[in-house]
Amino acid sequence: MKLWGGRFTKETNQLVHNFNASLSFDQKFYHQDIEGSIAHVKMLAKQGILTTEDRDAIIEGLEGIRRDLESGALTFTAEHEDIHSFVEAVLTERIGEAGKRLHTGRSRNDQVALDMKLYTRDEIDELDGLVKSLLEELLKLMEENLDTYMPGFTHLQKAQPITLAHHMGAYFEMFDRDRSRLSDIRKRMNYCPLGSGALAGTTYPLDREYTAELLGFDGPTLNSMDSVADRDYVIELLSALSTIAMHLSRFCEEIIIWNTNEYQFVEIDDSYSTGSSIMPQKKNPDIAELIRGKTGRVYGALVSILTTMKGIPLAYNKDMQEDKELTFDAIDTVKGCLALFTGMISSMTFKKDAMEASAKNGFTNATDAADYLVNHGVAFRDAHGIVGQLVLYCIEKGIALDDMSLEEFQAISPVFEEDIYDAISMQTCVKKRMTIGAPGQDAMKKVIEACRERLEK
Ligand code: ARG
Repeated sequence: MKLWGGRFTKETNQLVHNFNASLSFDQKFYHQDIEGSIAHVKMLAKQGILTTEDRDAIIEGLEGIRRDLESGALTFTAEHEDIHSFVEAVLTERIGEAGKRLHTGRSRNDQVALDMKLYTRDEIDELDGLVKSLLEELLKLMEENLDTYMPGFTHLQKAQPITLAHHMGAYFEMFDRDRSRLSDIRKRMNYCPLGSGALAGTTYPLDREYTAELLGFDGPTLNSMDSVADRDYVIELLSALSTIAMHLSRFCEEIIIWNTNEYQFVEIDDSYSTGSSIMPQKKNPDIAELIRGKTGRVYGALVSILTTMKGIPLAYNKDMQEDKELTFDAIDTVKGCLALFTGMISSMTFKKDAMEASAKNGFTNATDAADYLVNHGVAFRDAHGIVGQLVLYCIEKGIALDDMSLEEFQAISPVFEEDIYDAISMQTCVKKRMTIGAPGQDAMKKVIEACRERLEK
């Protein structure tokens, strides 16, 4: 039964088998395992290491296994150690002698290195699609909300007026960088480890360039020890996933705040909310909270693999089997979070009036009042002090800067004229911020165009 039973005189202890086995989780990449084996036998036959009859029998057998796994006609059984043993055993059972030649010039060490890379690469492509959908949703919100005013915050205190387009644009940049991180990782990892053998290559005249090409790699890896021992790309991916999770989590935190009764900037759709078993009035942002909460397990996966890898001498060691469950979990978690998050924000209602009203109180135009004085020849530090006095006066009277009469303005500084009202109106405050990257509509329009281009590239 065991691939390696030859030199053993005793059966494996059952607990040892269970502890050692990985089939329960590496079955997730049966498709990639079979794809890799097909490429391997094509190469073996091309090099005259395998006859074309054996090649055809093996390929047919492997494709049959894949079909039967997909249809459910064939199921995984726990007596097999891992996906590699399982496929080879079923193949040999089905096609006989030829099946035993499949593993010529290959080790499970380069095989698992390949499978994990193929699986990860496919998942990166899926993740990229999900981040792209989110970016499209954000861009739509940006285009629709150039004039939707809201307060921008620092220290969670109202700071200056911005627009919803600008706020969404900040997240667009973050997720766009996430996308570029995924594409960097894909580029860097895209070299084929197959043909590295256990650690020192093989004595067969393999054509590694050919296998690499068949599997869509940019070329073969260049050191056989590194090939079987490298999990850098897993670490990089988990790091990129952690960053995506962190961005989603920050965004969720804002949505949770905005969705409170105190803010009422947004209302999460009923279809993305949950209720309370005891409090009939409740409508809770559970999905946003869960996405925020799941960030922990994604970080956990990163720290876990970093810790596993730090003490491993070259080349392959079984420790590396630990890369799989946590990577699969992190990928599935982030994919789920991305899909749900995009659904949540595309169905969410932005309460524009509440946002605008909030931007109007809280002195978000105080900087602009100071800038007004500067434009009339007052030194900025003095202007800052004068507007500080205005704010203090307004707080005492319970009014906004815009509500002060011109006499009240002039009592504090004679520099103020009638045009102060226009200078500190929210429309002006936003419109005048027109440096690239700022919320002013002219600046935002240019940025939106650039975002659209990046997205369509
Ligand atoms: N299940 C193993 C892993 O995930 C496959 C490689 C086993 N190689 C070995 N020499 N035991 O790493």
